[in-house]
Amino acid sequence: MGVAPTDVEKEVRDIDIIVSKGNEAGDITYANPIFFNIAGYTQSELIDKPHSIIRHPDMPKSVFKLLWDHLKGGIDTNVFVKNLCKGGEFYWVLAQVRVATNPDGSFRNYTSTRKRMNAPARAIIEPLYKNMIEAEASGGMEASQKVLEDFLASQGGSIDTFNDVMSRIQG
Ligand SMILES: Cc1cc2nc3c(=O)[nH]c(=O)nc-3n(C[C@H](O)[C@H](O)[C@H](O)COP(=O)(O)O)c2cc1C
Repeated sequence: MGVAPTDVEKEVRDIDIIVSKGNEAGDITYANPIFFNIAGYTQSELIDKPHSIIRHPDMPKSVFKLLWDHLKGGIDTNVFVKNLCKGGEFYWVLAQVRVATNPDGSFRNYTSTRKRMNAPARAIIEPLYKNMIEAEASGGMEASQKVLEDFLASQGGSIDTFNDVMSRIQG
């Protein structure tokens, strides 16, 4: 949204739990103080805005497609995300995005709980996402999904076991 990314990293500490909730369109309905502090926005700058306000250009499109396909199917998703702060800085997290339901089973919200990404995971995911972005540029979403599927297969998994593979990579 007009923020120019820099290569300055913001630290996510071990104890930080970065939480936000979204409506069916993905607009932010709640963010905890750690969320808006690290993102560099005030609370009022974030509420009712799309979560893509912190989207980093280094994130492959197909990762978000997978996230939304899962969420629309009612499937919780563990996903590594590089986010963009208001000042152009970035931070990496492992997000656990869940579909929360009301007692009657109807949709309540999407809730994302994010923790610091471990260094060994970064060494695996950063090059993977770079390859996926390159594939998107040359061959579109299908090519990018193929890179992801090949990667999951190399880890002994598949799209169906995506969450397990990501959790294992986090360690
Ligand atoms: C609860 C929830 C949390 C989300 N958290 C993030 C996030 O931290 N960073 C991000 O880039 N996208 C996040 N998204 C995904 C965004 O809705 C969006 O799909 C993504 O930023 C890609 O934006 P685009 O499709 O407009 O390019 C989240 C979605 C939901 C429902």
